Amino acid sequence: MTISDQPDPFWNRAYRDGSSPFGKPSEEVVRLAAGDRELIAKGARILVAGCGDGRHALYLAKEGFVVDAFDISPDAVAHVRANATPGLHLRAWQADLDGVELADQYDWVIAHGMLHMVPDPARDKAMARLRAQTHPGGIHVVAVFTDTIPPPPDLAPLHVALFSEGELFEQYRAAGWELLETRSYVLEDEHPGGIRHRHPINKLVARAPAPALP
Ligand SMILES: C[S@@+](CC[C@H](N)C(=O)[O-])C[C@H]1O[C@@H](n2cnc3c(N)ncnc32)[C@H](O)[C@@H]1O
Repeated sequence: MTISDQPDPFWNRAYRDGSSPFGKPSEEVVRLAAGDRELIAKGARILVAGCGDGRHALYLAKEGFVVDAFDISPDAVAHVRANATPGLHLRAWQADLDGVELADQYDWVIAHGMLHMVPDPARDKAMARLRAQTHPGGIHVVAVFTDTIPPPPDLAPLHVALFSEGELFEQYRAAGWELLETRSYVLEDEHPGGIRHRHPINKLVARAPAPALP
């Protein structure tokens, strides 16, 4: 069963209502965009996979970055487009991470809270592809849910590819990426309609290997 066979998850209803179910951009994204450690150049080219309501894509486009954002949900894409002001360098389109067409190499890729919904083996293949489409020295910010707490019943049918604790970090390490930050924590989440969830999360900020010196 894939995500498109599922009944509407709560976030699609929120996208249609015009509300933002996931709040503000994540702290790591804000820090990196503000020039923390000078990892991201102004005007960098960014890909946001599974962009949802656009909390990262819209924020980064407003900060002057060039942003590509896609989501499997047409409601998400409609929400992002409706909230994009003229003049932003922001392209939003509907696509499944498994098979999405990407024309570019990116400086920064964000995949926040979505990879555990892409069934294996597509999940790891897609992650390898995202790494391959990142410039040397480019940055990934990735947050995934792990299986250390059983998923909430309303989301269990969607959380088909939960990571084991540390699996995300190991995957990037094995690919030769530098792990700049790793976090493992439990998110106590409350969404519109009083929906409460506890999500065990692994999150990283990682840098792509620089090209070998001649
Ligand atoms: C929990 S929401 C998080 C949204 C956003 N990344 C954020 O952090 O605010 C997960 C999003 O991933 C999208 N999604 C799930 N599976 C996907 C897939 N295979 N390809 C693209 N987007 C997907 C969903 O439609 C949803 O908008």
